[in-house]
Order: sequence, then structure tokens, then C-alpha cells
Amino acid sequence: KKSQAWSALFSEPMSELVKRYTSSVFFDKRMWAADIEGSLAHAAMLSAQGIIGAQDLADIQRGMAQIRAEIESGQFEWKLELEDVHLNIEARLTQLVGDAGKRLHTGRSRNDQVATDVRLWLRSEIDQISVLLADMQRALLAAAADHTETVMPGFTHMQVAQPVSFAHHMLAYVEMFARDAERLADVRKRVNRLPLGAAALAGTSYPLDREAVARALGFDGVCQNSLDAVSDRDFAIEFTSFSTLVMIHVSRLAEEIVLWMSQNFGFINLSDRYCTGSSIMPQKRNPDVAELARGKSGRVVGHLMGLITLMKGQPLTYNKDNQEDKEPLFDTVDTVKDTLRIMAEMIGGEVAADGSRSGGLVVKADAMERAALRGYATATDLADYLVKKGLPFRDAHEVVAHAVKEGLKLGVDLAELPLATLQGFHASITDDVFEVLTLRGSLNARNVLGGTAPSQARAQIARHQARLA
Ligand code: ARG
Repeated sequence: KKSQAWSALFSEPMSELVKRYTSSVFFDKRMWAADIEGSLAHAAMLSAQGIIGAQDLADIQRGMAQIRAEIESGQFEWKLELEDVHLNIEARLTQLVGDAGKRLHTGRSRNDQVATDVRLWLRSEIDQISVLLADMQRALLAAAADHTETVMPGFTHMQVAQPVSFAHHMLAYVEMFARDAERLADVRKRVNRLPLGAAALAGTSYPLDREAVARALGFDGVCQNSLDAVSDRDFAIEFTSFSTLVMIHVSRLAEEIVLWMSQNFGFINLSDRYCTGSSIMPQKRNPDVAELARGKSGRVVGHLMGLITLMKGQPLTYNKDNQEDKEPLFDTVDTVKDTLRIMAEMIGGEVAADGSRSGGLVVKADAMERAALRGYATATDLADYLVKKGLPFRDAHEVVAHAVKEGLKLGVDLAELPLATLQGFHASITDDVFEVLTLRGSLNARNVLGGTAPSQARAQIARHQARLA
């Protein structure tokens, strides 16, 4: 009697510790649907090529249908000693349909099988994530839509720099997520190549039709080198690298939400259902979701490091190391999906069936505006005003520095300095200066493509909405 699933060569059963150490079924069973789909495509091709009989194919199809039903209903008995999802399903198939089940693995190895399963599984996750990324952009656009005229301080070095609109600030994140979506579409092209047919490493002596299997499974093409096909996981690394950037973008946004929610900013409020309280301090409403999103970016960064390190130093071709690609990849997918979903909802509100939104970020426009009035946000506007009056920019810069110093001394904003005082800094300053010193004047003046002027922000919102429609 065989002592192992794969060979009579072994004379003693595997140690219990080794069994547990090498088994992956309790995490890779998650790819069961991809495994069955891949096997069915392989079997159909084997039959079309006359490598197995039509009856074998029918038996395999019948067996797989039952296995699918068993897994979906939770009846399927996953066995640790059968190591992984592939051997578990194959063993059950053979139990159900006999010899046909044993013929399924003709011209195939678990090495090309697992590479195929991961790619199939990941492709479907990518398609879901690309929808979530679009939802995220729509949520930000919804938050931006009513606030092209809402002024907040823009910061550099976390110091008040120049007035910007809240819409413009949200649109910056739309740009980031739009680039992430482009990256994801690009990653998908390289994920979507079929390894099956590479067999263990060298290809196979059976007359397989790899292109037919690729077409059946919706792949854009086949991996062109069998050694590469079974051994590289660069597609998973690329995906995790994409995920890292998404999470970094989310994390920056989350950080701002946490700051803005703080009493010291008071720029926004979040609906109660996205906040948590404190077990000791009765007054607390904490932005836990944003904090967690920021925190969870760390694990995805970690997974990227893990996967890169996993690949480094692996000689060609397949090594068992690659079994370690799954947990980081799965966790990356889960983290990105959950995070995008909850952040989009927290920012843009819940979307009803008719597309209307409720809840979402509450923008406290007055507080933003008050903050923009502190910190001399229009100092650059005064310098630009002097340049228009004929001063070289560097001289204008110096004049305004003196004016700011005076404002600081008196504890007032530039717009609150009397005209006579301003004229003391430069004679060319006249009454019309107060128009450029207002927040709205400053905003309107930045009417360059990509600038913060309301008309520019409105144009950007329209452009993005059309792109996402
Ligand atoms: N569970 C394995 C993995 O995830 C499947 C491939 C195993 N192949 C082998 N020859 N041991 O990589």
C-alpha cells in the first residue's frame, strides 16, 4: 500500500511535524474555484487533443460539478495530509469518478497548476479592486463637488502656505487613485498569461494545445518559457507593489482625516457610524477607521518586502519557497479591498441603488476658512501684486517679508493692515491691494491649468466624472 499521496517510493509515512509544516491547504483552499476551472479547461483540451477519452472528460466534468457543490455547501472535507488545494480536489475527484480522475494530471504538474491558479484567482480579485478604485475616486469627487469655493489653508512643511479649495485638495487624491488604477490595469496584462503546459519545468511530451487552454480561461496569451512559467512570481510582487502604493495613498488621506478631525483643526466631522468612543473618556469620538487604514498600510508594505525577499536567491525553477507567496498575497488583497471599500464609504457616503449618496465627510467650511486666515496665506499674492506693479520678484518677496513681520508684531493678517502701513513698505501699493489679499481673490487668481481656481477645479471634476462614467 502506498504510504503517500504521490509515490510508492517512500518507505515510511511523513512525520507529523513535516505534514503540518508543509501543508498549505488551510490557506490555499481559497483558490478552489480557480483550481477547478483550470482543471476543467485542461481536461477539455486533453480530450480535444485525443490524449484522454470523451468519457474521461465527461466523468471529470461530473466529478468536478459535485466537488464544487460540496465545497459551496461546506460538505467538502479538506485534509491536511493531502497537503494543498490541488491534491485535495484531485483525490476527491478520483474517489468520485475513478480512473478518469487519475488521468486529469496528464501533461500537468502542480508547478504549472499552482502558478495558473494564483494567476486566475488574482485576476478576478484585480477586476474587483479596479471597481473599488473607481468607487473611491467617485467618493472623492462627491466630497469635492460642493466645495470648489470652500477655502482651506494649503500646507507645505505642515505650515500654512497658500489658500486652496477643499475640492482641489480632494482632486489631488483622485489623481493618485487614477494613477493606481492605470498601474493595476498594467499589472493585469502580465498576470493574465497562462503557465499551464510548462508542466514541472521543461514542458511536456504530450501534444497539448496551450493556446486553446489560454483562450478557454480568458488569458491574453501563454507564458513562452516553461522554466520561467513555473518559477517566477513577479506578477504577484508587481500586484503587491501596486497595492503598496494604493495603501500609501490611502494612508496619507487617512492621516489628513485624523488631523482634520482633531479639535485643533476642526476641519471636518465624520458620521457617528464611522467613529468609536472611549471606555473611559465620555467625550471621545475617535476616527478609528482612518487610523486603522493608516496602520494597515504597514502590513502591505511588509508583504511587499516579504515577497521580494521570497523570490531573491531562488534558483530556477520551482522551489517550495513559492508556497509562501499565498498568505501575503491573500492578505494584501483582503486589506486593499476592505480598506478601499470602507474609506470610500466614509468619505463619499453610502450609495443608494439610484446613485444618491447619504452620509460621508462633513466639511466645516467656516473652520477651514478661519484657519486659512491665520498664517499669512496670501503673502505670495501680495508679492505677485508688487511684481505686476513692476518690482522684480525677489524684491517683492523681501517687501512682503517686512509686511508679514509687521503683521506678526501687531497680531493681524496682511489684509488687516491699514493701507498707509502697507504703503510704508512700498509706495506702489494702492487701494486695489485688498482684493488680492482676500482668500477668494487668491483662489481665483490661480487660474492656471491644474491650479486651485474654482473654474479649474470644476473642469477637473467634470473631466474625472466623464472618465469614470
Ligand atoms: N502548494 C504548492 C505551492 O503552493 C503547490 C506546488 C507544489 N509543487 C511541488 N512540486 N511540491 O507552491
